Amino acid sequence: MTDGKTREITLAEVKEHTTAEDCWVAVDGKVYDLSDYIDIHPGGNESIEAEAEATKAYDFVGHSAYANKMMDQYQIGILVEVKKEEPPSPEEPETFV
Ligand code: HEM
Repeated sequence: MTDGKTREITLAEVKEHTTAEDCWVAVDGKVYDLSDYIDIHPGGNESIEAEAEATKAYDFVGHSAYANKMMDQYQIGILVEVKKEEPPSPEEPETFV
């Protein structure tokens, strides 16, 4: 489905958006742009700005089902890990019979 919510975003990219005007957070593997929500968030904006990877903070608050549902509209992508450069795989060892 191309709903614009499947863009792959790294945590490094999330961390480039940490102000109230431009505020992204990652919660439970998804990335949210809360720039338009931060001013009306009942938990205030400092809590949202606190950390890019905010799953623990979000869960700690014990957000309601209403809040969980509401998040969907702010989702902009999914969090991906940056893959380390894989070293080239060694040649298959020769087998002697
Ligand atoms: C990702 C999108 C988020 C949405 C849509 C959201 C939504 C809400 C809503 C609707 C409430 C009111 C209580 C409830 O219904 O649970 C709330 C409260 C709160 N939120 Fe969030 N929230 C989000 C992210 C966060 C994050 C990342 C943090 C912390 C780092 C946070 C911290 C808080 C706090 C501390 C309260 C409690 C306010 C109080 O009861 O005085 N929220 N949030």
